[in-house]
Amino acid sequence: MKIFCEKDYQAASRRAANIISAMIISKPDCVLGLATGSSPVGAYEYLVKRYEAGDLDFSLVTSVNLDEYKGLSGDNGQSYRYFMDTHLFNYVNIRKDHTFVPDGLEPDSQKACEAYNQIIRSVGGVDLQLLGLGHNGHIGFNEPGDFFEKETHCVDLAASTIEANKRFFEKEEDVPRQAYTMGIQNIMFARKILIVVSGEAKADIVAKAFCGPITPQVPASVLQLHKDVTLVGDQAALSKLEKSM
Ligand code: GLP
Repeated sequence: MKIFCEKDYQAASRRAANIISAMIISKPDCVLGLATGSSPVGAYEYLVKRYEAGDLDFSLVTSVNLDEYKGLSGDNGQSYRYFMDTHLFNYVNIRKDHTFVPDGLEPDSQKACEAYNQIIRSVGGVDLQLLGLGHNGHIGFNEPGDFFEKETHCVDLAASTIEANKRFFEKEEDVPRQAYTMGIQNIMFARKILIVVSGEAKADIVAKAFCGPITPQVPASVLQLHKDVTLVGDQAALSKLEKSM
């Protein structure tokens, strides 16, 4: 695993954007696996700046997002489709029909998940998967459990995830209780993985995920088995990692 420990969130975001930019430049028709949450926001800002400066071309890029709340439409301000549009897609020249997010409005979970697995297959797999890290070790919405779910599936969100994500909603009751997420195998099949973490509140889970035992109780710990993982974080988030390595 490559680790970049940056002084703050801005520097970590810039580093992450550099790594994503390198992928787009070296493989203009790459497939990016993208993530939501506050961690990647800074990286998306840098990517937009680079696009505006004429240094990046997204015209051949395809994207597949990790997850989506079940029950939210793409124009709902809290949906992950909306997040991606308003943090990245609307400001670069990516073809919207080449951007994929699970269909939150499909009520039939099996249908929604099969359709998404089919999309991931049809784009030829993911070249670079960007990930954030939940406080309980979740990646995408793969919550702690007794086993690793392989492919896209419907999850009941953990109470701690609902608590963490309620900041984006008016009230806690508005947070959807379920989501569609890529599975661990979908994520592990990505050719490269880039995980971005920041803030002291992530320090414990970062140490657990990358230095602790590999267990579905800490879903991100499975990344220890991937051959090409880059972890980018600020000093606060990585502070306990150095001690445990
Ligand atoms: C959500 C997303 C995850 C994300 C996590 C952490 O639950 N489904 O993909 O990594 O939150 O978010 P943040 O970066 O805001 O801490």
